[in-house]
Amino acid sequence: MNSSEIRKKFIGFYTARGHVEIPSAPLVPANDPTTLFVSAGMQPLIRNILGEPHPLGKRLVNSQKAVRLQDIEEVGDNRHTTFFEMLGNWSFGDYFKKEQLPWVFAYLTGELGLDPHKLFVSVFAGNGAVPKDTESIRIWKDIFARAGIDAGEGERVFAYPAKNNWWSRAGEPDRMPAGEPGGPDSEVFYDFGQELRLHERSPYNGQPCHPNCDCGRYLEIANSVFMQYQKQADGSLSELSQKNVDFGGGLERQVAAANGTPDVFDTDLFRPVIRVLERAAKRTYGREEHDTRAMRIIADHVRGAVMMLSDGVGPSNKQQGYILRRLIRRALLYGRELGLSGDWRYVGTLAEPVAEIYDAVYPEVRARMRDTKAILEEEAVRFGRSLEKGLHEIEKLSEINGQTAFTLYETYGFPWEMTVEIAEGKGQHPDRRRFEEEFEKHKALSRTAAAGMFRGGLADQGEETTKLHTAHHLLLAALQQAIDPSIRQRGSNITAERLRMDFNFGRKLTPDELSRVENLVNDTIRENLPVTRVEMDRAEAETIGAQMEFGHKYPDRVSVYYVGSPEHFFSAEFCGGPHVAFTGRLGHFTIQKEESAGAGIRRMYARLTPAASGN
Ligand code: ALA
Repeated sequence: MNSSEIRKKFIGFYTARGHVEIPSAPLVPANDPTTLFVSAGMQPLIRNILGEPHPLGKRLVNSQKAVRLQDIEEVGDNRHTTFFEMLGNWSFGDYFKKEQLPWVFAYLTGELGLDPHKLFVSVFAGNGAVPKDTESIRIWKDIFARAGIDAGEGERVFAYPAKNNWWSRAGEPDRMPAGEPGGPDSEVFYDFGQELRLHERSPYNGQPCHPNCDCGRYLEIANSVFMQYQKQADGSLSELSQKNVDFGGGLERQVAAANGTPDVFDTDLFRPVIRVLERAAKRTYGREEHDTRAMRIIADHVRGAVMMLSDGVGPSNKQQGYILRRLIRRALLYGRELGLSGDWRYVGTLAEPVAEIYDAVYPEVRARMRDTKAILEEEAVRFGRSLEKGLHEIEKLSEINGQTAFTLYETYGFPWEMTVEIAEGKGQHPDRRRFEEEFEKHKALSRTAAAGMFRGGLADQGEETTKLHTAHHLLLAALQQAIDPSIRQRGSNITAERLRMDFNFGRKLTPDELSRVENLVNDTIRENLPVTRVEMDRAEAETIGAQMEFGHKYPDRVSVYYVGSPEHFFSAEFCGGPHVAFTGRLGHFTIQKEESAGAGIRRMYARLTPAASGN
């Protein structure tokens, strides 16, 4: 069973049970500076979990593109990836545990054909504030009993503390910021039955083996979160106004389980990339451990980079662009270990099979392949140059110790093994422990930085951000009206201080053009036009010419924001809001900067200041 079949089966299973399919949101969350990438299917639906009605109802299903950066150092084993797809279904105050858990089981055994004897489940063991989830234990016991399996606690059903069985975007209850929703969850693990038996001591940590011990025998393939709580400012948890189900299952892992391979890289979601890599490196996947690990890292990182580029991210030294750059560089360094260097542009040939893998679901990958390849190749060549420089630096060093080895890793991305080879050539033996200590410190720092990005709660809906959000709509319409009607938005980011918009345009805007755009926005602010939200069918929204984001797929029913009246508007955009009620609230609009953001793409920064004369 390939990935397309599984994706279809999942969606089909839930649409047959009254769910409406919604498209994947883009990888970079729209107007949400609290996080770099969408990392769970629920992220774009947070407001519905908190109680706001969704235009498509109380039951949704989809496959969401996602990136998890905390896994980057783990990539190389059989199951960790940075980019992945999350199959999700949601109940917003509709069904709950007694429907959800039997459905998960029916889907896994009936649709994927997994042997129920190989399924193990976990539930929340409770803490001071929230009791043990005995209801889920009871439901699971019944489910397994109907399949002829006696599901004893500690044998088939396991209760774990919050560290394992509580889910929120921020993690355990103690880490949740005020306003954040979360709840106990129930996971399903597939037992690949390799080497170990349950409760034998795991070579991974010496503890008795169990589904959550992380030794690699059990793969988590499904997670039902019972989103029922919200963190309060005083640190307590209170019940949300509605009980929700937030389900997520990694597509890659489900494909592996359905095909009986514990290796997610040995599936149709990676094989086409690995085949090109095997040919280029003249090595065979699965033969040597070192080569296999390098191939997994390269395949993962190239796939992740392609998906980011397809969603409009460009390499840079900041935020999403920095992560993209890091993926490309790591892929190239591991390529070097396979003997691939010199002409670094080979990385472009690895991008093409990614389009093939996703043709049926994410056509934007193929649509942007020309740009994607060009950017990858340019980045690779630039990195090749910096690597040469790094090698030159090493040659000049009089001493290479553990600390210098780490600095070389951090600055040029040189892996330990390479640096050691060069040091030994000079008769020196850097201390590995020191290198690892520095490395651990660095990992802890990047974890803190990643956590820091997540400021928590809702996407910023503060007053300033909301105003800039409306200004963003005005800016796009002004660019089209004053400069070129074919201008489309290619990405955006809004904070409380400024807005940033990427759009297609072949050259730098002249000072005269910039002031025409600025004036048009300010005129519209002075007209004090109403901003209104109207729900309509997507087809109707397309007919009226409402703006949508390039490469973004929208559901059948959408919300459109008008600036002006629906009969006579200055701007109409597909958008979830929020916005100010009248443009007059915005103050004065100024363009701060206009620059290139890649081939054929411009980037503009703008801000609002209070209006001078109260108009
Ligand atoms: N939101 C849950 C997760 O990401 C389903 O695991």
